[in-house]
Amino acid sequence: MPCGYDCGRGYRPEQLTRWLDVISRAIGDTAIATILDLGCGTGRYSGALAARFGAWVIGVEPSQKMLAEAIRKTAVGVSLIRGNAESLPLADESVDLVFISMVFHHFKDRAAAAQECRRVLRPGGRLCLRAGTLEQIENYAYVPFFPESRSLLEQHLVSRATIEETFAAAGLRLDRHGLVPSEAGANWSDYAERLAHRADSILIRLRDSDFARGFEAVRKRAEKAPFGAVVEPVDFFVFRAV
Ligand SMILES: C[S@@+](CC[C@H](N)C(=O)[O-])C[C@H]1O[C@@H](n2cnc3c(N)ncnc32)[C@H](O)[C@@H]1O
Repeated sequence: MPCGYDCGRGYRPEQLTRWLDVISRAIGDTAIATILDLGCGTGRYSGALAARFGAWVIGVEPSQKMLAEAIRKTAVGVSLIRGNAESLPLADESVDLVFISMVFHHFKDRAAAAQECRRVLRPGGRLCLRAGTLEQIENYAYVPFFPESRSLLEQHLVSRATIEETFAAAGLRLDRHGLVPSEAGANWSDYAERLAHRADSILIRLRDSDFARGFEAVRKRAEKAPFGAVVEPVDFFVFRAV
């Protein structure tokens, strides 16, 4: 649910700046005129990408609810279109950067999505992708509190190699991969408040009783040791259209 998404996963300005810096470093001095924010959701990145790169951002999103929230935010330099990764409503070789944040595990047809990304990218264009992976499940902050989330994560996430192979098969060469420490909560109380929105495709699948038990444990953790940011690794991939 959109309000839930932004309340649960919205960024503080400095968090957003940190991610824009990561993307900026990945792109280097390549000129970026057009960006596809694929699966843009509520537009958490769309306006910020347009402002940072002085680019035209096209947000493509299948969910009418998420798109409505993105439209409500209307930012300069952003166009929003309903569509999905497997059949992009964009011309061949029309974008310089494809940005994909926390969407890969939602693709219905990963190979088709990757081929579509390659089709719309100009030669030499970049694809930057943020994702969760199987390898990092142990390091996600909520897993110890919600033990039932582990098997769901195992069902829904893929390995780092699967992501790399999917794009390689579509003609995208891996430039780099890294783990970026990312703040899930400014402190444990903030983290608990965010979790309460269940703005996560795994937490929303838990039985209410399992969620309530885990949430209580997080709340207790926040009472005991409220200070210190809650940080978890996010896989960040940079590919180049060859
Ligand atoms: C976790 S949200 C991430 C939203 C946004 N990228 C962000 O980081 O804030 C995942 C988004 O992927 C979208 N999505 C699901 N299936 C998709 C598909 N096949 N193609 C494109 N987007 C998809 C969902 O509707 C949802 O908005």
